[in-house]
Amino acid sequence: MLAHNRIMVLHGVNLDQLGSRDPEHYGSLTLAQLEQHIAGWAAELELETRFFQTNLEGEFVEQLHHSRELADALILNPGAWTHYSWAIRDALEIAGLPTVEVHLSDVMRREEFRRVSVVGDLCVATVSGKGADGYREALELLQRRLAESAA
Ligand code: DQA
Repeated sequence: MLAHNRIMVLHGVNLDQLGSRDPEHYGSLTLAQLEQHIAGWAAELELETRFFQTNLEGEFVEQLHHSRELADALILNPGAWTHYSWAIRDALEIAGLPTVEVHLSDVMRREEFRRVSVVGDLCVATVSGKGADGYREALELLQRRLAESAA
């Protein structure tokens, strides 16, 4: 098992509403159900998970400030903040952890404003439009990354 195997999964604004958002874009799982899937996939990969969601930008920033003590890598879905929050971008840069950006929906094939990510270039990868499976892909990417840096 990897010594550094702690993944923090951060969900931003409106993602607590999964299950009642447009299922065509976001699927039908609630956030609690999605987190259960993620925790199961992580366990198969011998990764530990910790979950966080807030609708308050400052709380999201503060969680990122604590992330270095709590995690070895991040999975980040900031919701609409993705497209404009320079504060979250700065906090992610401060955290300095390997991060995969995930979006349930295919943000590149939706409205123009969703095509911009202010966090994307700080992330090791972006997975978009694969629904819940996108999180499994993110876990696999981070597991490989953590294994490489442990070698
Ligand atoms: C989202 C895409 C964002 O554009 C949107 O504002 C969200 C969810 C996604 O997971 O597809 O809230 O990040």
